[in-house]
Formats: sequence, structure tokens, C-alpha cells
Amino acid sequence: PIIFIITPTYYRLVQKAELTRMANTLRLVKQLHWIIVEDFEVINLKTKELFQSSGVSFTYFAQTKRKTTKNHIRGADQRNAALDLIMAIHNPSIPAVIYFADDDNTYSLEIFEQMRYTKKLSMWPVGLSGGRTYETPIIKDGKVIKFLAWNSEKRKFPIDMAGFALNAKVLWTYNPMRFSTDADAGMLETKLLERCCTVEEIEPLADNCSKVLVWHTRTQKPTIYIFDNSLEV
Ligand code: UGA
Ligand code: MN
Repeated sequence: PIIFIITPTYYRLVQKAELTRMANTLRLVKQLHWIIVEDFEVINLKTKELFQSSGVSFTYFAQTKRKTTKNHIRGADQRNAALDLIMAIHNPSIPAVIYFADDDNTYSLEIFEQMRYTKKLSMWPVGLSGGRTYETPIIKDGKVIKFLAWNSEKRKFPIDMAGFALNAKVLWTYNPMRFSTDADAGMLETKLLERCCTVEEIEPLADNCSKVLVWHTRTQKPTIYIFDNSLEV
């Protein structure tokens, strides 16, 4: 199966560094198509060159946040546009998997090979997420019975975006599978996954959720005292 990676991204000083790091990971993964959606009116041609020189198969386009989308929601319109694109370019009879990978996280190579065979919805622990050392499904007899995560009482699927993959077929079976643009904080994942799946259907990966293979890392905003602009950072 092919893996579609969906990455919303936006301009800030560390953007190019983040995307370079991510490209260096993704270039090591076979059979992958990277969809990068710039949160702006237009794409950045320098950024496009970065993707081209990485050798990764990619699509890069721009999608602004919609006026009706709630202020606190980031990346949803961009991810939804990427899902529209997959439905437009992909033949659903060809096996494929979808993973929402933010540009600042850290990904082991192992997780890609595991998610590749996702039957419907797969899940695994995410390190440094939700104010805890990790958030994870709790497994008993190969099934998810509960979660160790922030706000797991109110969230049916209390896991970060980095902690699950979907078989692409769900896009057609449960159409429209799109992110809600008026969800409460922290409810984006739950509101999407509720459309297609039950907790019983979750396939635990990462050795029955016993290993952390992705990390919700966040890059510190650099403090700059001297702005030179002959070079693009
Ligand atoms: C957490 C979750 O891990 C995200 O998946 C979720 O989208 C986000 O919260 C949220 O709902 O606000 P966090 O580290 O707080 O992540 O968010 P960022 O990493 O700053 O943003 C998530 C993704 O959206 C990144 O790829 C980022 O480049 C992109 N983004 C962020 C935009 O495209 N536009 C923005 O204005 C902000
Ligand atoms: Mn992040």
C-alpha cells in the first residue's frame, strides 16, 4: 500500500528547518506521497524547491483558512483540502493509507512500515503529548479497552493527530470524512474518527502500544536580535 502523508504548514522563521527535517525522514520511506498544504494564499517557490530536491514524491499547494472556521482551529481546512485532493487523484481500489503528520513532530521510520497495512484505523502511543510523557491506548487481549490521555473522559478517541492512521477507503465509505471547523479544543481527532470507526475496531500498533515511535515535539520560537535578509532562512 501507498502512504499519503498530509502536512499543513505555515510561514514562520523555523518553517524551512522543520520541513527539511521532515523531508529527511520521509525520503527514507518507500511508496509514499507527501501532500503539503501551505496555510496561505500562495505557495512559496523556495519551499517547493526544498521538496523537489528531497526526491520525495509530493504535491504542494496553498489553502487559506476559511472565514467560517473557528479561530482556535489550526490546520483543519488545509487537511480537508488534502483529503479532497486524495479523493480526486486516487483510485480507491488501490490500497492506501492516510497519516496526518504535522511539520514539527518526530517520526521513527518503523511507524511508517507498521501503519502501511492499516485495515481501517490503527493507533499507537505518542510521546510528549497532552501534558504527559506519552498518551496511549491501553490494550487488553489485543483490543483497546481505554486510553491514558488528556481528557479521556470527554474524548472518545483521546489521541493526538500523530497517533493514528486510516485506510484511505474510509474516505469513500464514510464520505464526507472531513475535519470539523467548529470543534472544541482537542476534539478534532475525536470528531473525525467518530464518523467512521468504533473503539473496538482500532488496530493497535507499536507492539500492542508498548513502544513510543512518534513524538509530539515542538520547536521553540527563536529569539532574533539581528535581522539580516540577504539569505533566506
Ligand atoms: C496540536 C496537535 O498535535 C495538532 O495536530 C493540532 O492541529 C493542533 O494541536 C491544534 O489543533 O491546534 P500543536 O503542536 O499545538 O499541535 O500545533 P502546531 O504543530 O503548531 O500545528 C499543527 C500543524 O498545523 C503543523 O503542521 C503546523 O505547521 C500547521 N499550522 C499551524 C498551520 O498550518 N497553520 C497555523 O496557523 C498553525
Ligand atoms: Mn506541533
